[in-house]
Amino acid sequence: MKIGTLDLGDFPLFLAPMEDVSDPPFRKLCRKHGADMVVTEFISTEGLIRNAYKSVKKLDIYPGERPVAIQIFGHDLQNMLASLRLIEKAEPDAVDINYGCPVKKVVNKGAGAAFLQDPERMQRFTAEIVRHTGLPVTVKTRLGWDENSINIVEVALRMQDAGVKAIFIHGRTRKQMYGGTADWDAIAAVKRHPDMEIPVVANGDIDSPQKAALIRDHYGLDGAMIGRGAIGNPWIFEQMRHYLNTGELLARPGIPDIVVTIKEYLNDAVRWKGERLAILEARRHYAKYFKGLPNFKPWRMQLVQAETLAEVLAVLDKITKEFPE
Ligand SMILES: Cc1cc2nc3c(=O)[nH]c(=O)nc-3n(C[C@H](O)[C@H](O)[C@H](O)COP(=O)(O)O)c2cc1C
Repeated sequence: MKIGTLDLGDFPLFLAPMEDVSDPPFRKLCRKHGADMVVTEFISTEGLIRNAYKSVKKLDIYPGERPVAIQIFGHDLQNMLASLRLIEKAEPDAVDINYGCPVKKVVNKGAGAAFLQDPERMQRFTAEIVRHTGLPVTVKTRLGWDENSINIVEVALRMQDAGVKAIFIHGRTRKQMYGGTADWDAIAAVKRHPDMEIPVVANGDIDSPQKAALIRDHYGLDGAMIGRGAIGNPWIFEQMRHYLNTGELLARPGIPDIVVTIKEYLNDAVRWKGERLAILEARRHYAKYFKGLPNFKPWRMQLVQAETLAEVLAVLDKITKEFPE
């Protein structure tokens, strides 16, 4: 599939944008382990315009992570257009508009999934953004506002008319937030529409190689975007690719390899966001990295109580000694 002139090959696998997760060090890790393209955490266009440190910092792109899309969210068209100049300076491969965030704080302002309630406004904003940048524009959205207003086919056609180069669809409504299960059939209905020409990428609950194969072979979609399945498991991309190519399942890496990966992430993260924040934010990922390890609880306690990089690395070394294969 292609995003503009960017050729991502057959059935690309994308790392989903995830706030506090899809930072540059994690994106680099996912690229290294087979993600074909990554998307940044969402960035407030208001924050960019105000030169807020947190928003501007999120524009950083590591050498090892391209192709990458920068994701923006906003509610004010002029600010969104003005932010494009700052985004272009970071030279991403695409700019992705967030039309799916369900969080109250975001939708109450008219950003994120709020656009699904007004497809005409969504089309107008998108067309203006496309017109104001030379970067390929993609959008990430949901099936509709709630179960009574599923309008994704109309929305997708409007996005195509606005000049969008690909659409990422999370198979839930805004009302569902993250509950229930993603409806892949509803995503496939967009792809099947005779007027649909741009690539349609599925998102939501694609967390195993077999599910990725279903998305490709049964639902006929152009690619898969993986979010939570990659947390503590950046290898999911190579596992999916191997299965898609051969039908065989790869084993999860052993503890020593998992530890090497966590160390690589931590070292990068400390450099990027500073030791305190890096150590703090890494804590919620350890349980996922070591999923299935017997009697992990005491180790996890040690990891989450460690306060410096040196302390965390020392615990990780003890884990490797305890589980040498
Ligand atoms: C911690 C977290 C942060 C997220 N942040 C964003 C975000 O910044 N932008 C966005 O479009 N979606 C965001 N999402 C939604 C994911 O991109 C994705 O649509 C959702 O998790 C469903 O996919 P999954 O089942 O593969 O996780 C976030 C999800 C999680 C769990």
